[in-house]
Order: sequence, then C-alpha cells, then structure tokens
Amino acid sequence: MTDKLIIFDTTLRDGEQAPGFSMNTAEKLRLARQLQSLGVDVLEAGFPIASADDAEAVRLIATEIKGPVIAGLARCDRADIICVAESVKPAERSRIHTFIATSDLHLERKLRISRDDCLQAVIDNVSLARTFTDDVEFSAEDATRTDPDFLCRVVETAIAQGATTVNLPDTVGYCTPDEIEEFFVNIIERVPNSDQAVFSTHCHDDLGLAVANSLASVRGGCRQIECTINGVGERAGNASLEELVMVTQVRGDRVPYTTGIDATGLFAASQLLSELTHEPVQANKAIVGRNAFAHEAGIHQDGFIKDRRTYEIMRPADVGVAQSTLVLGKHSGRHALKQRCAALGVELSRLELDRVYRAMIELADRQKTIEDSDLSAIIADVRASASVGAA
Ligand code: KIV
Ligand code: ZN
Repeated sequence: MTDKLIIFDTTLRDGEQAPGFSMNTAEKLRLARQLQSLGVDVLEAGFPIASADDAEAVRLIATEIKGPVIAGLARCDRADIICVAESVKPAERSRIHTFIATSDLHLERKLRISRDDCLQAVIDNVSLARTFTDDVEFSAEDATRTDPDFLCRVVETAIAQGATTVNLPDTVGYCTPDEIEEFFVNIIERVPNSDQAVFSTHCHDDLGLAVANSLASVRGGCRQIECTINGVGERAGNASLEELVMVTQVRGDRVPYTTGIDATGLFAASQLLSELTHEPVQANKAIVGRNAFAHEAGIHQDGFIKDRRTYEIMRPADVGVAQSTLVLGKHSGRHALKQRCAALGVELSRLELDRVYRAMIELADRQKTIEDSDLSAIIADVRASASVGAA
C-alpha cells in the first residue's frame, strides 16, 4: 500500500507573515474553509501571541473548521504556549506547535542564550504543551544549519518530553536536495527514540528548491510536509502545496505517496488567496498560474490540437482549471487561428485565413496578445476590403 503524506498547511501562518499577505479574521476564515474542502490534514491557523486579532482568528477557525487538526504556533515560552492552548481549545482536534532556534548562529546572535538554555527551554515547554494536548509538534528553527550532534540531543529531548511530531526546517532555504535527504536519514538514524515521532519537513524557497527539498526529505524519512498555497511565505516563500500534491499525482511512479488533497480544488484555493491578499499569482506559476495551461507557439498549438498530451502532462480539470487556452500572439500558427475563428462561429476561406493570419501577426507585433474582439475586427476588415476589391 502507498504511504500517505501528512499535508500541513501553513498559508495562514508562515504565508500570512510575508509582506503583502496579511488578512483580516473574516478573510482568514474564508481561506480556512477552502483549505478544509481541499482536505489538508493539519491547518496552522496563526501565531496567537502575535496579536489579539491573530488569537481571535485562530479561535474562530478552531471553532468553525471541522476535519483538519487545527494548529497554532508558539515560541518555547510559557505565555505563548498558554495563548495557543486557549486559542485552539474549541477545535475537534488541536495541535500546539512550539519552536526554538537551535543553530549556533541563532542562539548566539539572535537569542543570546547557550545550548544548555536552549535544551532547558525544550524540556520546559514541550512538557508544558503536553499538559494541554497529546498532539504537540516541536520545530528546531534553522535545523539544517545546526550542529548535528546538538540537534540529535534536542530532538531526542523533545520526543522524550512528549513531542509527537518533530519538524526540522530549512529555515533559510539553504539546503540542496541530496543534502537534506542525507540530513534526515542521519538524524532519524542517530536519535534513539526517533520511531516515537513523525518527522516533518518545512522548506523555504530562497534558492528555488523548496519543493525538491521537501520531496528529498520524504525520501529521507519525513512523512509530514509543511507547505502553502501558491508557495507564499517568508521571503521567497515556502514549498508550494499545489506543486507537491501534483507531483504525487502525476509522477506516482517516482514519488509513490498519496495525499488526502482533492486536487480539483487547487485552482480555486490559489485564486481565493490571490483575491483576498490582492497579490497576483505569477503568470508562469506551476499548476495554478495563468500560463500553466496556455499555449502560444504555433508548433505547440498544432501538437496540442492533434493530441493535447504532446504538450500537457495533466488535464486542466485535474486541478480545477476550466480549460486549456490557445493564446493568439506573434508566435501562433494558422491551426490555432482557424480553431479560434471557428469558436467565434466564423468559417474562413483559405484566402481569408491567410489574410487574417497576416493581419493578426502584424497586430501581435504591436500588442502582446490578440483578444477575440481584436480578431473580430480583423475579420471584418479583411472581409470589407475584399468586398471593396471585388466591387
Ligand atoms: O521557517 C521556520 O523555521 C519556521 C518555523 C517557525 C517552523 O517557520
Ligand atoms: Zn518558515
């Protein structure tokens, strides 16, 4: 049987932290409903200690959203953990997600505490979190730049104190895929109680490797992936949920895992996030971008018309996109033009098609794409000048 990956969505926490992506409580609840219908396993609803609004949003989501585990983020700090515990309390199933940085760089320069202080904070706070819920996730921030011997001690301690999920983030998106796979293999092998927790990966996209690194982490032994819609998140963002899900669907032969995600809701979730944050989705974004199922070059259009599989590895409907589009532009060919004219209810003779094609290419040199209205005007023009010529 194929293993199932736990999809931990952090759009409303790591994603919402990114500049330009903040949402109010009502907007967060709308997105949470969409994530619920997508079927995410864990929904990180926010960082309650950050503000009263954040705490209220997490509480509302915990009250309204049934199905996913509702998680809230807390530093390894008593007040943070109590705040999360209160915020997620109404949920059917709740998780406290507590984190502390473990790399020397973060300990010395940011937190200004020793490794021993860090270990003590893990002991105190993971055990405190366990007094509220039996679902506790511990994250070692900047794990991939942490001394492995110290990280093993931290992870062993967190599990001994009751952490049921251990997340080892590539906080600054520094790893390469082979490196992060080795990293997880090594930690899981060396930590004596590693079999008592689910290992989780949380990859940032600073080098554009977040999805590749997440998949490599799965090869290294992780069974939970932390990701976001449209890959939003701090700086260059997190691993993109839609890309991860579709890799498992399209390339199950190489990535033999399932997810509980209903992929047909991916486009709607992407659009909703963009609508709520007023942040457009990059046109060439894999899976959900405007160009993901658009073809402009003549050779591609010709192949696509004959058999869509020549240039598409999934159907638009698989991810909730209505249909592929043949964009008319300066690289387009006569096949696509003829098809678009037919869709407009216009049958062109061979000579007309030739004239319309030339006029279209001329116009496309001046403007990026040819809309239906442009095409109708060109057809009318060509026909009018033909009838003047004939008169
Ligand atoms: O990137 C990171 O390290 C995080 C942790 C707080 C989980 O977002
Ligand atoms: Zn992060």
